[in-house]
Amino acid sequence: MNRLFGWFGAKNPDREMPAHSRENIPQHVAIIMDGNGRWAKSKGMPRIAGHRAGMKNVRTITMAANELGVKVLTLYAFSTENWKRPKEEVDFLMKLPQEFFPLEIDELKKNNVRIRMMGSKEGLPRHSLDAVEAAIEETKDNTGLILNFALNYGGRRELLLGIRRLAEHIRDGEITPDDISEQLFDSYLQSEGLPEPDLLIRTSGEVRISNFMLWQLAYTELWFTDVFWPEFSREHFFEAIRSYQGRARRYGKL
Ligand code: FPP
Repeated sequence: MNRLFGWFGAKNPDREMPAHSRENIPQHVAIIMDGNGRWAKSKGMPRIAGHRAGMKNVRTITMAANELGVKVLTLYAFSTENWKRPKEEVDFLMKLPQEFFPLEIDELKKNNVRIRMMGSKEGLPRHSLDAVEAAIEETKDNTGLILNFALNYGGRRELLLGIRRLAEHIRDGEITPDDISEQLFDSYLQSEGLPEPDLLIRTSGEVRISNFMLWQLAYTELWFTDVFWPEFSREHFFEAIRSYQGRARRYGKL
């Protein structure tokens, strides 16, 4: 349980979460990290300062998830719609992987974290992709927490790409329409092999899904907070986990 104390000077989460709360930890937590821009504005700083603070918070929340024994943490870092932002902001966001990974890779490796990416590689600048791919390669044998970055990701695009590939396989006679089950379809998605998110967190007060994991969120518990992402602390994260633990998941049954 306490396998990862010491990561980035971690505190003992037992002091912050009552003992009974260490049970029923969600396997997969997905987060829409929203509010970087508004956080920066509220401090009189440029939007990009909010993104840098947001990047730093990735470490805090990854640490908290790791301590609890969460298996997969998926972070929505850049959507297919984010390209519509001003070029200066997009360029800055695209530089974050090469800032983040060299800074954090040693600790990630030490703590058995495996990096993964979900989204289209096409369209990403070479320097961003190189940084992500190097981290994926360096951590590929790790067996602990999977830290999954949704980068140049859109739920509709993911579905269309999967459906297109499925159609090609039918055309080529590799499968027949009768073979298509939920399980088979899962394997055509970019989240292939990952469990569905048990809990989705969105920060900053927005209450929508924003084209995130449209297929995978079918039975996910949702948790929204007004807190902006750069200020979303480990205590807020534990609060979300406790809320999840108090819910009855019925999957349509009584
Ligand atoms: C949404 O806030 C946030 C983003 C579009 C970027 C999120 C990215 C990070 C937190 C860093 C990711 C780190 C790596 C290593 C890739 P917003 O700008 O839409 O906030 P606003 O709604 O207040 O304007």
